[in-house]
Amino acid sequence: MPGVSLVGSGSARLSVALSNDALSQRVDTSDDWIASRTGIRQRHVAAPTDSLTSLAAEAARNALAMAQVSAGEVDLILLATSTPDDLFGSACQVQAALGATRAVAFDLTAACSGFVFALVTAAQYLRTGVYKNVVVIGADVLSRWTDWSDRTTCVLFGDGAGAVVLRAAERDRLLGFELCSDGSLNHCLNLAYQSDPAVLVGDIAVQEGTFAPITMNGREVYKFAVSRVPEVIEKALFRASLTTADISWMVLHQANQRILDAVADRLGVPLDRVVSNMARHGNTSAASIPIALDEAVRANKIQPGDVIATAGFGAGLTWGAAILEWQ
Ligand code: ACO
Repeated sequence: MPGVSLVGSGSARLSVALSNDALSQRVDTSDDWIASRTGIRQRHVAAPTDSLTSLAAEAARNALAMAQVSAGEVDLILLATSTPDDLFGSACQVQAALGATRAVAFDLTAACSGFVFALVTAAQYLRTGVYKNVVVIGADVLSRWTDWSDRTTCVLFGDGAGAVVLRAAERDRLLGFELCSDGSLNHCLNLAYQSDPAVLVGDIAVQEGTFAPITMNGREVYKFAVSRVPEVIEKALFRASLTTADISWMVLHQANQRILDAVADRLGVPLDRVVSNMARHGNTSAASIPIALDEAVRANKIQPGDVIATAGFGAGLTWGAAILEWQ
């Protein structure tokens, strides 16, 4: 059976940084509160001229350049996002922007777990031998759906896009994974459609509304993350016949520094093995893992042969882990 190799990573450079101090001009908060509770010092927001598509395409272009794969060689583009430009999906616009004319492209939505879910989905196409080159993108523009008057949520999120290129290979470098969902906890974290009935004709009514800004029960999400994430990483490690001692780098969804620290502590992984860019990016949802991965690769932290434990968690609720070997 063919395997999967990670051959490139990339991310988009967003020009607008929003510091905690700047945010505290908008809501009653402070750099001290945000940094001590979350580790975040600033986040980036998409400029009015940016689109989800343009950021996702930039990340994908950079990943393809590192992988030395041309757009014409790409078979599949998976775009993990909860904030498409078009509710019908944005992956096809990314395909067009890249000029990846042979590729089939579609969106996948699993909130902050989206990148891990998309990575594992992509691997199935490669393992069956159907496709050879796949681009997996995690991108979100949560600033569009943030309630900028709600200090309990608006300080946490940022915008961004990251991508990886996966290639069919003889040796499988997706060593193990585990994916989970629990819809009974959906109420903990929402970006829900809210509507009122609108009479169409006679006694027939349809729904008229829009998506309401993000609402979250922060304490419940925190408890969920610190219990479920170590568990799911251990399951993925078990499937890989590895233990926590084999982890070179943990690249977790960047939701909160305290969550990263608690997960590392429970697993007994030293903090200097935990990749964190919380301070600069905040929580960029589906983009956070590929951005963190790309930065660590470009900083020469992650080296070929390193074992990476990655885990996403978020709305749905969804959570999942993948154990990978870099290149
Ligand atoms: N600035 C100042 N004060 C604030 C702020 C703020 N930005 N936000 C809340 N507070 C206040 C609250 O009003 C509360 O005040 P009160 O005691 O007078 O009522 C006090 O701070 C404590 O609030 P808590 O909600 O208890 O604060 P907590 O220590 O739990 O931290 C936080 C909140 C950071 C949201 C934390 O619960 C957390 O990180 N949860 C996980 C959230 C997360 O990771 N979500 C995303 C995961 S999924 C995804 O990525 C989509």
